[in-house]
Amino acid sequence: IRIFVPKDAQALALGADRVAEAVAAEAARRGLDVAIVRTGSRGLLWLEPMVEVEQGDDRIAYGPVLASDVPGLFAAGWLAGGAHPLHLGRPEDIPYLARQTRLTFARCGIVDPLSPSDYEAHGGWAGLRRAAAMDGSAVVEEVTASGLRGRGGAGFPTGIKWATVLAAEADRKYVVCNADEGDSGTFADRILMEGDPFSLIEGMAIAGLAVGAEKGFVYIRSEYPHAFRAMSEAVAAARTAGFLGPSVMGSGRAFEIETRLGAGAYICGEETSLLESLEGRRGVVRAKPPLPAIRGLFGKPTIVNNVLSLASVPWILAQGARAYAEFGIGRSRGTLAFQLAGNIRFGGLVELAFGPTLRDLIEAFGGGTRSGRPLRAVQVGGPLGAYFPDALLDTPLDYEAFAGKGGMLGHGGVVVFDDTVDLAAQARFAFEFCAEESCGKCTPCRIGSTRGVETVDRIRAGIEPEKNVDLVRDLCEVMTDGSLCAMGGLTPLPVLSALDHFPEDFRRPSTLMAAE
Ligand code: NAI
Ligand code: SF4
Repeated sequence: IRIFVPKDAQALALGADRVAEAVAAEAARRGLDVAIVRTGSRGLLWLEPMVEVEQGDDRIAYGPVLASDVPGLFAAGWLAGGAHPLHLGRPEDIPYLARQTRLTFARCGIVDPLSPSDYEAHGGWAGLRRAAAMDGSAVVEEVTASGLRGRGGAGFPTGIKWATVLAAEADRKYVVCNADEGDSGTFADRILMEGDPFSLIEGMAIAGLAVGAEKGFVYIRSEYPHAFRAMSEAVAAARTAGFLGPSVMGSGRAFEIETRLGAGAYICGEETSLLESLEGRRGVVRAKPPLPAIRGLFGKPTIVNNVLSLASVPWILAQGARAYAEFGIGRSRGTLAFQLAGNIRFGGLVELAFGPTLRDLIEAFGGGTRSGRPLRAVQVGGPLGAYFPDALLDTPLDYEAFAGKGGMLGHGGVVVFDDTVDLAAQARFAFEFCAEESCGKCTPCRIGSTRGVETVDRIRAGIEPEKNVDLVRDLCEVMTDGSLCAMGGLTPLPVLSALDHFPEDFRRPSTLMAAE
């Protein structure tokens, strides 16, 4: 009998290794023949460590399991799906999972992340096999027709980016995967790299064959040591199995991947500073143009895509562009992996076709706030995303709809706050974060962020609040229009949304002073 225990970083933090040891020890004590398979996470984070027991073609889940629960689970007959307070039934029937559309994350938590054959048994390598038999431009056309847009946050059409690299004349081209997932409340890239690394490898190989690049790099943030290990081991396994190397799947075309560990800076997630860092320099933003698609890594045409953009490609090649484009609404096609975090009851990964509302996501999946207090604000799209009040929760999850309300979907991070949040403090935090993480190349960001902190402090202290609010708005205009990259250019989004939707939080000290 096989027992599946996650080794995803979040499950490990909650004791998954101790659970695996306890399962092995208890099985040995009882003289039972049990094989423990270490998987990634299905993304139901409040149930981790979620352990699954094989039952014929099915699996029965139990969770959250502590090492101390293990003897009781054996005693309750879990190897035969026995009843126990932690019994969850078939994972696929848990409403949180059953209501999702798992395309990119279909295998996460199911497969052995380091087995190319298990990956193949679950539909893997089919996209690469098809791409290897196609002309590069036909692959690019397929990706364009799917409507896939960059999942890192900016939502630029992936096929158009690839077409630019394909059309560029050069002796060498590169594929760079941006795995510097730095947004607050996000973990989808990490879950994918730890749980299904071959899907990213397959997506990168397809990209390489499509544009004529023979080398790819995965740039992983240093805070993700488990993902780095999983990716590095998976790359070696894929090479041994012939999916990478001088002749990818016997196509006669070469593609190789190297993993690289970042040095721990938010700005290294910005594509040009990531390239600087990959080349061995400090992560400072480069001016665009030239776009990386024209002059990228080592000055050569380079595809820089987020983990999830690349990992979406195998499904598109395997099932066809039209099948992918059938999901979603408007210009937002396919699925996005939303990540529920902050003050939320059921935090986790929710892959959905674009279209439902933010309220659906928070209520139907998230179950409201963890504190049980009323929800007051939701920040979508990381630290540079806007704070939405309750009145905007019916906005559909769609790039354009969010932009129309002054926000952004970004990388799909959703951070929930209850009514104890102070939005003036959050506005200060936005400036402070920018000051901390700015690469320092341009003045509006480098200096503006610090002036922003000081000005919000004055407002919060009740010093000429109206004049200082006007100053903050002016400063935001300068930062939006004058910053070289999204770091300084988008910091105004959280600040202005806080001012616009929660003005009362910027009046508190003066009200208090008046009352005194
Ligand atoms: P951008 O809009 O400048 O560019 C988007 C992408 O399209 C880039 O890769 C760019 O090189 C490419 N591109 C633009 N025009 C092109 C053309 N004609 N041909 C080929 N390629 C072209 O946005 P940027 O600055 O790259 O990203 C900003 C976004 O990053 C923000 O909206 C934010 O959501 C996101 N972000 C994500 C984080 C994460 O952890 N995933 C962290 C921080 C920000
Ligand atoms: Fe650097 Fe900030 Fe300017 Fe971006 S906006 S280039 S992070 S100083």
